[in-house]
Amino acid sequence: MPMPDWSRAIGVGLLIAFVPSLYAQTDEVRSASMLANTCAGCHGTLGASAGEVMPTIGGMDKGYLVAVLSDYKLGKRPSTIMGRIMQGYKDQEINAIASFYAAQPWVSTDRVAVADQLAEAPVLHERYCESCHQDGGRGQDTESPRMAGQWAGYLQYAMQACRDGERCHPRKMRDRVTDLSDDEIVALAHFYESQK
Ligand code: HEC
Ligand code: HEC
Repeated sequence: MPMPDWSRAIGVGLLIAFVPSLYAQTDEVRSASMLANTCAGCHGTLGASAGEVMPTIGGMDKGYLVAVLSDYKLGKRPSTIMGRIMQGYKDQEINAIASFYAAQPWVSTDRVAVADQLAEAPVLHERYCESCHQDGGRGQDTESPRMAGQWAGYLQYAMQACRDGERCHPRKMRDRVTDLSDDEIVALAHFYESQK
């Protein structure tokens, strides 16, 4: 699978991304659905993303969403674009937006994995990943996100970023991901994507 076209995604995004920072100058607290309109351009209606490299966020754990969005805002979580976007949000708004997305149903992609990915990836998953990403990646909690039914393009980006040391939390995961080859990362990404 080719690497995602980030420059294009980000170009479109910048237009959208700077809108909230204008609003943030006022004291007004915006409603959750109004806030979510800004996210929909990239993460899809109600957080069910339609794009390979944009993560689905609807139906994620509320605590995870609050933690991740706050870390983006504080620059504690490396990102291509989210750090800039979250600058425009108050803590109260982050809380409202996390509640909004956590209340949406999770919508898995309709993709299926090919045979060789399904031969290799479940073995790797069981050995190195299941202890934290339980139930074949369906499990989620405040610390770790659901991966089953998530877009492979995004999962691949996240695993590569972890392996290459750009963003990897927790450290224990890095130990498991460090030795994965590119092919294994692609296989795992497609395996998770195809798990409904
Ligand atoms: C310009 C497109 C764009 C917009 C607008 C956008 N996002 Fe994102 N989002 C991304 C990208 C790209 C990533 C992957 C991380 C990165 O590189 O920034 C991401 C990652 C995330 C993640 C992490 C998902 C995970 O699995 O850990 C969450 C949560 C998130 N965005 C929520 C939001 C919310 C809430 C909004 C609206 C306030 C929003 N995003 C607006 C592009 C966007
Ligand atoms: C020690 C527990 C642990 C192990 C083992 C682990 N992970 Fe993770 N993983 C996490 C946590 C916690 C996160 C959320 C980190 C964050 O805040 O971004 C995560 C995030 C991810 C993400 C990003 C998901 C998203 O939506 O942003 C991917 C992809 C991932 N892990 C893949 C793997 C794979 C593949 C393995 C096995 C090779 C693995 N992990 C092993 C704990 C673990």
